[in-house]
Amino acid sequence: MTLNAGFHTLWPTPLGLHRYPAAAALNPLLVRMFGALRATQSAVRGEAPGAFFASDDDLLQRVQLPEWQGLVRYFVECLRDTVTQANRGAWPASTERTGLSLQVAIEGLWFQCANRNAFHDVHTHGNCSWSGVYCVQVDPPERRCTHPTHGELNGTTRFYGPPFARLGGAHVDLGNAYLQPAHVDVAPLPGQLVLFPSWLAHQALPYEGELDRMVISFNASIHQAHGTDRLHGYRAA
Ligand SMILES: [Fe+2]
Repeated sequence: MTLNAGFHTLWPTPLGLHRYPAAAALNPLLVRMFGALRATQSAVRGEAPGAFFASDDDLLQRVQLPEWQGLVRYFVECLRDTVTQANRGAWPASTERTGLSLQVAIEGLWFQCANRNAFHDVHTHGNCSWSGVYCVQVDPPERRCTHPTHGELNGTTRFYGPPFARLGGAHVDLGNAYLQPAHVDVAPLPGQLVLFPSWLAHQALPYEGELDRMVISFNASIHQAHGTDRLHGYRAA
């Protein structure tokens, strides 16, 4: 890649926020189904009930409900939309005219429950290019945000942008104001789907509420439906 003279903004961080229209009807069904799955998998693993639970990551194959298939289709449609926007200008110019036939592969899909101050520390996801988190259940904002310790951060997902690791010395002046905000908090909202690049560091902040914080997480890879999707070749020296 050769840069021309002029100003450039490099290395953006794409992120897609979507709202599932059928969430109000579907989510109560998911809560019941996940409660049953949690009981079954905890018994198989010999786990006592705890503040945090993560299911096996094979829900895509395990669940057969038609409503479930509708939700998975929605995840795939949103991925197509967000990933296409994220790669505008990066895919070959010919595909911008003719469109690119994409194959979206969900590599793993699981649910998580948290309460009693459980949290998920900073991490990234491997072996995939995109990840998503769909909120199934959490306390309503008027209750969630009044937690005596966590306040409005109760159960929030925090994303750390690439500049976060470069804030050495925390020097901030007008010259590097573009590095801010170093992190962004996305409040949990039932029916909300957040799609993010798998390399983006994030964490689920501590949560405590009347209702469990229940989310679906998944990883995905994106390919061209036909032919090769390797856009850049590398040759050993
Ligand atoms: Fe995660």
